[in-house]
Amino acid sequence: MDNLINKLALYLSSSSVTTVLTGAGMSVESGIPDFRSKSGWWRKIDPRTVATIEALETNYDLFHEFYCARIRGFQECYPHKGHHLLAEWEQTGLIQAIATQNVDGFHLVAGSKNVSELHGSIRNFRCNGCGSPANKADFLSKHTCVNCGGKLRPNIVLFGEMLPEQAWDTTLRNIQMSDLVIIIGTSLEVYPVNELPSMTNGKTVLINKDLLDSYHQFDLIIQGNAKEVLEKTDEIMRAK
Ligand code: OAD
Repeated sequence: MDNLINKLALYLSSSSVTTVLTGAGMSVESGIPDFRSKSGWWRKIDPRTVATIEALETNYDLFHEFYCARIRGFQECYPHKGHHLLAEWEQTGLIQAIATQNVDGFHLVAGSKNVSELHGSIRNFRCNGCGSPANKADFLSKHTCVNCGGKLRPNIVLFGEMLPEQAWDTTLRNIQMSDLVIIIGTSLEVYPVNELPSMTNGKTVLINKDLLDSYHQFDLIIQGNAKEVLEKTDEIMRAK
């Protein structure tokens, strides 16, 4: 693996604009399960029953129970060294932006600034009916919207919904002007994010625990855990 990490370090030091794209695997070492690995959420529960707009509208009890469980799961979890290194790399100009499918907010908590949360955030809430902001306590207590009586929900993107326009536009711009896109911890199974690696003219590097069936050809694939690979890369960059 060391040779591959040396190559990544070389790419990083010769790139002027680098974007990092993360998925659920980025937060696994913080104690948050991903979706499609053996211990992932979608092995235990069918996403159609909890992660779609239809689920919210027609089976709110199960929808609510699922997101309460996820929110409770996040409570004891924190960003790991890998998240912190990405924040440091942004500060020192080694990377310019992060686009994430994760709703845990860990990149922002770790101090990254230029973060596009493509699937929203589970830290904010709103009414599904009128869009008024709501708070976490009201969602957890299953209260309805104070304005219109509508159902409360986390500010995340459900299957069947559009991605937040600003986050998507910013990410597209970043990816298109990048010399290097580093993709970390994602199965790249979900549209439209899985199209992003094909939208850059720069080099693409995949850091993932499992090998993917992705149709995209990467310039470099490092099979490993996000935290370990980022730590090793940081060591090499510091020694340069
Ligand atoms: P997945 O669960 O589909 O993929 C996570 C990937 O991370 C897998 O390929 C794992 O092999 C890898 N992985 C696991 N642990 C890792 C580690 N420690 N280091 C590196 N890689 C690791 O998650 P996503 O691709 O993020 O969307 O899923 C995309 C979207 O599908 C999610 O945002 C969510 C989900 O349904 C919505 O709910 C809209």
